[in-house]
Amino acid sequence: MKVLGIETSCDETGIAVYDSDRGLLADCLYSQVGIHASYGGVIPELASRDHIRKTLPLIKEAIKDASIKASELDGVAYTAGPGLVGALLVGAAIGRSLAMGWGVSAIGVHHMEGHLLAPMLEPNPPAFPFVALLVSGGHTQLVRADGIGRYELLGESLDDAAGEAFDKVGKMLGLPYPGGPHLEKLAKYGKTGRYEFPRPMTNRPGLDFSFSGLKTFVRNTIIEQSKGGELDEQTRADIARAFQEAVVATIAIKCRRALEQTGLRSLIIAGGVSANTFLREELETSLEKITGQLFYAQLKFCTDNGAMIAYAGCQRLQAGQHQGLAINVFPRWSIESLSAIS
Ligand code: KG4
Ligand code: ZN
Repeated sequence: MKVLGIETSCDETGIAVYDSDRGLLADCLYSQVGIHASYGGVIPELASRDHIRKTLPLIKEAIKDASIKASELDGVAYTAGPGLVGALLVGAAIGRSLAMGWGVSAIGVHHMEGHLLAPMLEPNPPAFPFVALLVSGGHTQLVRADGIGRYELLGESLDDAAGEAFDKVGKMLGLPYPGGPHLEKLAKYGKTGRYEFPRPMTNRPGLDFSFSGLKTFVRNTIIEQSKGGELDEQTRADIARAFQEAVVATIAIKCRRALEQTGLRSLIIAGGVSANTFLREELETSLEKITGQLFYAQLKFCTDNGAMIAYAGCQRLQAGQHQGLAINVFPRWSIESLSAIS
């Protein structure tokens, strides 16, 4: 089965073609970062307008890259939520309409399920059951996954998502949007130990997260340290390092706890923040101690992309699920409410 995947939930237009027999045939991405950077964050209306400009040309490009004809596609998968409502509507309207025109099935995919399944695109995919850490710009969740659509939310962020905290602290340190990858680069030059930031909610039981207090702690440190004027380069790097260490240590503690609680040994990490090398290394080390195994997608499939949507959609279409003709999107959508496939 060949499926076209359309991702437009935020500031990336991602289009891909996935074939259940041959794997990924094409994967095209257009990032709107340049459009939103000067505002320091995503402007939803600008995002929608740009998806309108980019989605159809990128679909043409993906079909060409896949060396197939549109008539060979068996289905269309589009992100139906969670995300920005206008941005989601662009992908959903285009995807649903093309499927109707081509006479094939369409399916609305849950964006976080897409992330969760992205490591399945790798040569050594994880097997169910496993614990999934979903860490993106909008979500920080620990999920027990027993199969496609069989998800139990074990814990989540009560306030800022991990990626959001990276972006906000990045902004405080004068880094471009999105702050996460820039902060990681800056942290490489930082010295461990000069600052010690809190590991929120780790000294009490449970699997929820809270990054808002840590963010305020960093802000206060910056204010205190910049009394004499601008922060020097080394201080910025040291703060970035201490912040990254605090987030990663917190996540590692909760992941270990989730594995202990569920008795599972496989952990997958997915979403934009799973591209962070320091996080990957810390989790590898932490899991070695309990003979656990860590899985993640290659870098380009950690952040938003069309391939994960094409893959997730293909699994559901193959199981006989599909969408009616109505174009529905869900800006808020619980991953636990998804239906299981056999
Ligand atoms: O999954 P994603 O592309 O979009 C959402 O669904 O939100 O995640 C984007 C988030 C941003 O907050 C970005 O700063 C963060 O992932 N991110 C990183 C890194 N690369 C992307 N955070 C930390 N380190 C990175 N290397
Ligand atoms: Zn995402």
